[in-house]
Amino acid sequence: MEKILWDESFSVGVRDLDEQHKQIIIMVNTLIEMNDTKVDSEIISDTLTKMTRYATDHFNKEEHYMLEYGYPEYSLQKKQHQEFKRKTVDFCMETMIHNTAVPIAIFTYLKSWWTNHILKDDMKYKKFFNERGLK
Ligand SMILES: [Fe+2]
Repeated sequence: MEKILWDESFSVGVRDLDEQHKQIIIMVNTLIEMNDTKVDSEIISDTLTKMTRYATDHFNKEEHYMLEYGYPEYSLQKKQHQEFKRKTVDFCMETMIHNTAVPIAIFTYLKSWWTNHILKDDMKYKKFFNERGLK
C-alpha cells in the first residue's frame, strides 16, 4: 500500500497542529509498512495503540483551540474524533484476536480517514484560526 506523503497541501496553517499531523502520518506509514512486510500482529496492535494515544492528545489540543476561538464546526469535529477513537479501539481488539493476519481494512481505514480528515475537515479551520491570529 502507498504511504501518505505530507506536503504543503496538508498544512492547516497552525504550526503545532501541523507538527502533530506529521507525527501521526509517520505512525500511520509505519503501520502501512508493517502490513506490507507482514510484521507480527502483536507489534501492530502496540503501534496502533500508540497512534491512538497520540491522536487522542492531538484531538484534545484541536478541540481546545476550537472551543477557545469559538469555531462553528466544533461539535462536528468532536463527533468525527470520537468515531475515529471508537473505530481504532475496535481495530486494536480485532488485531489482538487475529494472531496471524491483520485485516487489511484497518490500514485502508487509517490511511483514508487521516487523509480525508486533514484535507477536507481540518482544512476548513485554517482560514478561521489564521484570521484570529492562531498560526
Ligand atoms: Fe480534526
